[in-house]
Amino acid sequence: MIHLTINDQPIEVPENRTILEACREHGIHIPTLCYHPALEPYGGCRLCIVELKVGQRSRLVASCVYPCEEGLNVYTDSDIVKRSRRMTMELILAGSYNTPELLSLGEELGVKEVRFKLPEENACMLCGLCVRACNEIVGVSAISVIHRGIAKKVSTPFSVTSSRCIGCGTCVLICPTGAFKLENVSGYKPISPADTLTRRGYYFRVGGEIDLRPDFVQDVTTLLTQPMGTESKEEGSRK
Ligand code: SF4
Ligand code: FES
Repeated sequence: MIHLTINDQPIEVPENRTILEACREHGIHIPTLCYHPALEPYGGCRLCIVELKVGQRSRLVASCVYPCEEGLNVYTDSDIVKRSRRMTMELILAGSYNTPELLSLGEELGVKEVRFKLPEENACMLCGLCVRACNEIVGVSAISVIHRGIAKKVSTPFSVTSSRCIGCGTCVLICPTGAFKLENVSGYKPISPADTLTRRGYYFRVGGEIDLRPDFVQDVTTLLTQPMGTESKEEGSRK
């Protein structure tokens, strides 16, 4: 077991836990955007920042990728942490300033105004969840992040219809802002408007119509609710 202090409370956790996992197991809230328990940690959004103190010195680290170490002294809610999260959130909102999910997170973090705005708004804040889910869960890698700077976006290679996409809709399910729509998925086939299937049924219908790979996980929604490494090997393509 590893012994550390979080917000001045002594805590004991099993080995190989990140600070974020330790906090969640002990009911300590840390905001996240690019973290998903079913995927490898990525460390992209920097919202989960926490302060590590050693003597008089302190530094900020991303809690979703930083492992718990013996004797660590962690602060999840100090002034410097709150300032850093507010700044990060404001920069994320600079490109997604009308996205309800992000606006409400901004409000929770105390962002009162967005001082920087990109000329074109985009609900995608490049958290990379869709790209990683396509790679790690589906095992297809039909999409990736392309270009650099403000031109950066999620797309298929060369922005043309991907021959690898199996139209499963996992990217749509996992996107926290609704930036990805079923229409963006190469294999998407619309169903009759008279069809009253639930969202879940709708999703399976889309997958079912295009003949999924035999070894593909049929119930992605179930897999997405499981923490890393707890799914049965027979069920999916994740290693
Ligand atoms: S489309 Fe959604 S899941 Fe993919 S990077 Fe953008 S916000 Fe994240
Ligand atoms: S949740 Fe840790 S960097 Fe995004």
